[in-house]
Amino acid sequence: MATNPNPKKSPSSKLWGGRFAQSTAASVEAFSASIDYDSRLYRYDIAGSKAHATMLAANGLLSKEELQAIVDGLSEIEKEIDSGDFKFSQELEDIHMNIEKALADRIGPAGAKLHSARSRNDQVALDLKLYLRDQCDLLVELLDDVRRGFATLARTYLGAVMPGYTHMQRAQPVLVSHHLLAYFEMFSRDRDRLLDCRKRINICPLGGAAMAGTGLPIEREQVADLLGFDGVTSNSMDTAGDRDFAIEFVSCCAQIQLHLSRLCEELVLWAGGEFDFVMIEDTFCTGSSIMPQKKNPDIAELVRGKSGRVVGSLMTLLTIMKGLPLTYNRDLQEDKEPVFDAVDTVSASLSIIGELLENLKFNTEKMREATTSGFMTATDLADYLVLKDVPFREAHGIVGRIVGHCIDKGCELVDLTVQELKKFSAVIEKDVYEVISVDGSVQSRISTGGTSMQRVEEALGSAEKQVGIA
Ligand code: ARG
Repeated sequence: MATNPNPKKSPSSKLWGGRFAQSTAASVEAFSASIDYDSRLYRYDIAGSKAHATMLAANGLLSKEELQAIVDGLSEIEKEIDSGDFKFSQELEDIHMNIEKALADRIGPAGAKLHSARSRNDQVALDLKLYLRDQCDLLVELLDDVRRGFATLARTYLGAVMPGYTHMQRAQPVLVSHHLLAYFEMFSRDRDRLLDCRKRINICPLGGAAMAGTGLPIEREQVADLLGFDGVTSNSMDTAGDRDFAIEFVSCCAQIQLHLSRLCEELVLWAGGEFDFVMIEDTFCTGSSIMPQKKNPDIAELVRGKSGRVVGSLMTLLTIMKGLPLTYNRDLQEDKEPVFDAVDTVSASLSIIGELLENLKFNTEKMREATTSGFMTATDLADYLVLKDVPFREAHGIVGRIVGHCIDKGCELVDLTVQELKKFSAVIEKDVYEVISVDGSVQSRISTGGTSMQRVEEALGSAEKQVGIA
């Protein structure tokens, strides 16, 4: 092995190369570099470095002039990256070292002081948290657009009825708006979840240093304040190895994508000839290269399909973390690609679904027609008997026999005369028809969260208020 001829200079060009007698193998550099994807964090890395430098200066670790040189240098580097002129180097591994090296090249010795009292371990956690905090805000905006879309549709179709399903069998008639507002609820929970997750993201890790804290006189709270954090992390070892916040964020993403996927599944079914409940505008469909008659709901299918990616990202993160000893391990570098892919997929899906909602037309006649068969008001008939003091289980049996009778006769409940109905229960009178009609059934469901017009109007009013529709 060749010995180093100049003991003052390491043969390794790395920022960490001092103790190395040989330079890194090219294959190792290529395999271990993250710059191809973590360059996305540059703005956050620079903002974090500026805050760190400001704190170092306030605590006597940098002179005023050095601070100025660092801040100006970082601003120039940021502009260069913005404009696409910055040359990223794989040799410098990651975004942190690419920027630090560029700064040192630009401003000399002051640049080399920036990394005092910090490690890449707390630096990368900081960058990721700053990035995810912004992504929470962005996803909340996109969710609000989608929620607005549902409120608008629910207002447009207020009064229309459709079958509600359990087991994919027609179950009970509901208002179309009630079905639409179910999605409003799901996306509202997603919004809450993101905002809650944001609280745990918004705790500053910088100052945890490599994993044991630092002996240099720093003030972590000052950095946290400068960057808009709510506080600082409490344990330096936890700080270096924690990615709970990333898992939690991607879990929020997975939940959003699952909700989108369920919606898309319904749209695909409803747009098909078997249902014919919804028409998706031509601009949002594609054709078949062989079957001239086809108009396919590809956007809904793609969003449904993309749920695989987001759930996959969550599994990736969980698996990376399982069994990692404290504190930092290089495995953690693998956290970024799944996080970025989840962000890209969910934001693209939310934004296209927001547009898709504006390109739907419900076929309310078809929907109403679908409510008139399938004995969907059988529960209402049982409830009618309960109000006439028949115990529910007994009422259930009576109505079951009435339904069996209808099946034999090939008719619906409303087609039976009072005389016929009385054979099953003497308490049945003429007023039964108000109860077993589709509209009567819907109107009767006045329990909180039910599908009666009154309840749905209240829910819609509240939804509109939440999303700022007058
Ligand atoms: N690129 C690394 C990552 O993403 C940065 C932290 C490196 N720290 C270390 N001790 N090698 O995790």
